Amino acid sequence: MQPLEIDHVAIAVEDIEKAVSYYQDSLGAKVVHRERIESDGVEEVLLAVAESYIQLLTPTNEGSPVAKFLAKKGEGLHHIGWRVPDCSAALKELKEKGVEVIDQKPRPGSRGTIVAFIHPKGSFGTMIELVQEMPEGH
Ligand code: CO
Repeated sequence: MQPLEIDHVAIAVEDIEKAVSYYQDSLGAKVVHRERIESDGVEEVLLAVAESYIQLLTPTNEGSPVAKFLAKKGEGLHHIGWRVPDCSAALKELKEKGVEVIDQKPRPGSRGTIVAFIHPKGSFGTMIELVQEMPEGH
């Protein structure tokens, strides 16, 4: 695999407006994107930190995986997004190496990215998301 950089660090929160205020007003990160992804049951806010993002995540319904995460673990680190040039190739390579994945195939992420999740069990407790940026203009 060819990791390019840390794309984002995702943090699960109960109250996204409070969290946005904190990260923006106290820590100086700027909001660059907001999106509700109904299929995943999440609302996310991306705040820029240099070339990477802090991604605040909150559930939009009780059945959301993020709601389950919050109930079990409370607020905090949810996953780390690793930017890769080719999500499909990276996923195939990891599967061949026996890495336990969550997504068998790449799928659409936020901001028009292509993503796939790697199981936290094999990654020493932290879920990893492979993130491929779409070319400009798409
Ligand atoms: Co993510």
